[in-house]
Amino acid sequence: MPTGDSTLGSDGNMAMVAGPWAKGKLHYIRRYCYIFNTGMKDKWETRTYIDLFSGPGRCIIEETGEEIDGSPLIALQCGVPFTHYFFNDVNASFMDSLRKRVSSTSSANIRYFNIDCNEVVDYLLPQLPPSSLDFCFIDPFGWEIKFNSIRKLTTRRRMDIAITFHTGEMKRVAGSAPEELDDFFDGPSWREEYKTESQKRGRQKGRVLLDIYEQRLRNIGYQAFDDNILVRTTNGLHLYYLLFASKHERGADLWHNISQKSHTGQLRLKIPKE
Ligand SMILES: C[S@@+](CC[C@H](N)C(=O)[O-])C[C@H]1O[C@@H](n2cnc3c(N)ncnc32)[C@H](O)[C@@H]1O
Repeated sequence: MPTGDSTLGSDGNMAMVAGPWAKGKLHYIRRYCYIFNTGMKDKWETRTYIDLFSGPGRCIIEETGEEIDGSPLIALQCGVPFTHYFFNDVNASFMDSLRKRVSSTSSANIRYFNIDCNEVVDYLLPQLPPSSLDFCFIDPFGWEIKFNSIRKLTTRRRMDIAITFHTGEMKRVAGSAPEELDDFFDGPSWREEYKTESQKRGRQKGRVLLDIYEQRLRNIGYQAFDDNILVRTTNGLHLYYLLFASKHERGADLWHNISQKSHTGQLRLKIPKE
């Protein structure tokens, strides 16, 4: 079954088929949620976790059939928990399964939404605590999230974000890029920048896309970035970078700490230039 398809988990609820690389991504999210809460609990009494693409809470690894918890359940498992959780997914049966899984295990303070990632921001914002330290995980299949939604969600908030940034697919379509990529990059100006920079820098096209996006994030107050985690398919094809951004150096320090070891326990080396 192809990745992204839905199937049934062993508990009878929906699960999502995922590639083995999902384990790597979730390892870093688990570690960041852990360090975020343990490291910040004395400074920030209120800490929120926002998952704009939460999925059903369970993934089944294609080929092996192994079942693993998805990002919302992982965020709920922190020893020192977040004080508020906000889960959203456009797929109604995924959200229904997530609710069932969570209600049997957790009494946390959780709000669920079942709409498009760009529309949910308007519903979410009034429900966020007025003063909190936030971590938002943005884990789409592609470039569904509009930059303006990130701007709206993060303005005047102390919110760290981690985004799966799909350079693999973007590079494949960038020559004749679909209009949605303009919304993703905050307007069409990225096209010219991409053309000029990728001509100058040859094979580093993924790097150019990341640089353009990080500049957009700088424009809305982000200062510290870590984009040293590149996720590939088992055949070595580039899929996405796990891009972390914070408005404070401390956030990037924490991310740097948790990203030194991969999920297999190996020390990670810096990514060589493409
Ligand atoms: C990569 S999966 C998320 C996996 C999840 N974070 C996890 O770790 O288990 C992407 C999810 O985005 C949802 N999705 C796709 N388009 C969306 C949209 N426009 N708005 C909100 N959710 C969307 C899909 O239903 C799918 O569950």
